[in-house]
Amino acid sequence: MSKLTIIGGEKLFGRINIQSAKNSVVSLIASSILCNGKIILKKVKCLSDVVNMCAILEKMGAKTYFKEGDLFLNCSSLYSYVPDSNLSKTLRSSFFMTGALLSRFKKAEMSFPGGCKIGARPINIHLQGLKRLGVKVKTENSKIFLDGENMRSSVIDLPYPSVGATVNLITASVFLGGETVIRNCAREPEIIDLQNFLNLIGFKVFGAGESEIRVQGVKSVDCGEIVYTPVEDRIEAGTYLLATLACGGQVELNNIYIKNIYSLYEKIYENDCKIVAENGKITINARGGGKSLGKVTTGPFPDFPTDLQAPLCAYACSLRGETEICENVFEKRFSHIDELVKMGAIIKRGERQVVITGGKLSGANVYACDLRAGAGLVLAGLIAGGTTVLDGVEIIDRGYFEIEKILTSLGAKVERI
Ligand code: EPU
Repeated sequence: MSKLTIIGGEKLFGRINIQSAKNSVVSLIASSILCNGKIILKKVKCLSDVVNMCAILEKMGAKTYFKEGDLFLNCSSLYSYVPDSNLSKTLRSSFFMTGALLSRFKKAEMSFPGGCKIGARPINIHLQGLKRLGVKVKTENSKIFLDGENMRSSVIDLPYPSVGATVNLITASVFLGGETVIRNCAREPEIIDLQNFLNLIGFKVFGAGESEIRVQGVKSVDCGEIVYTPVEDRIEAGTYLLATLACGGQVELNNIYIKNIYSLYEKIYENDCKIVAENGKITINARGGGKSLGKVTTGPFPDFPTDLQAPLCAYACSLRGETEICENVFEKRFSHIDELVKMGAIIKRGERQVVITGGKLSGANVYACDLRAGAGLVLAGLIAGGTTVLDGVEIIDRGYFEIEKILTSLGAKVERI
């Protein structure tokens, strides 16, 4: 297990190139099962979740490799519809392969997915939607057996705009005769990205970004070679933006569009800082700290992203007055709160909500229980007085590539030991 030592108190100055979004790349890897040709995903970092998705495909017969910052995928020799259960249990997005496997093999044998421990994370919405498409589902010995022999297009009303269920229902529908309509679907930028990617392959998906997606089934696609640059990582960008606001300094984020982090921008744009956004670049000039944000509630896009809630909690510790933060997406996503309290944060905690009173943090030994909680604690370490030692850093590597190197390049004192 590696640790980060962080000596707080430095302002941040410099430039960061935001990478392809982890949460889009994993969906695109799952969807590559639909294509028999070569796929090149540009500017993809070897995050551990991405590497694990590739390892699952490899075990099913696909070829994958990284070269010069791009990810190469070829599923033409994929022969299995059974993703490795041990690997599947390491991440949530393993389950995002279900729809594509059903489209390709008319069956899939899935394991219950893993991922960060931030709530129960059931898969009922995925399965209900697939049943609407005519899939027979049987659960036995911790395995889910899906039979898609009698699949047909349909109209599906999702009870909640689940990101993963939307991915699975789109990818399960692409070869079905007629039109499938998915209502109350997820509207995240990563869903728009999936639509763009699938349409480049030759599928017909419309409406992503709105709450109704229509998939017109095609008989076949002629893949050839697909070269695609995934959408930028709005969560990575938001994390470094919040770090700059909390620490102060001047940082330029390249390759990020404000529309994808607008709910964050709306909250902070006048808070002792100047933010200029143009042509896919955001420049932040900040004094450090600022006034309380009032109330922030997480929700599905375009609401405030749950994946930025922990970094926001760390930022709130640097603000004057009380900030109330409500977590409405995952019921157990407050593992960073006890750790922040160890660092001296003043936090009143409710079931799904915390009230943070800004003040001084002091370095402490803390533990990263989940990916974004870990990122939040890194931010807390950057603003704390003294040294913070953060344990369990591997979990941060799931979603942030070489976080310590990026922060060091901005002048922070962060070291991996
Ligand atoms: N839900 C159900 N039943 C389902 C599916 C979801 O009750 O069948 C509930 C979940 O328990 C949760 C809510 O619906 O309370 C939202 O879950 P959703 O399905 O939208 O999330 P996901 O697809 O599992 C993706 C991201 C998460 C991100 C969420 C929300 C990937 C691989 N993961 O998860 O990313 O937090 O959407 O935006 O795309 C992260 O990157 O740290 C992360 C957890």
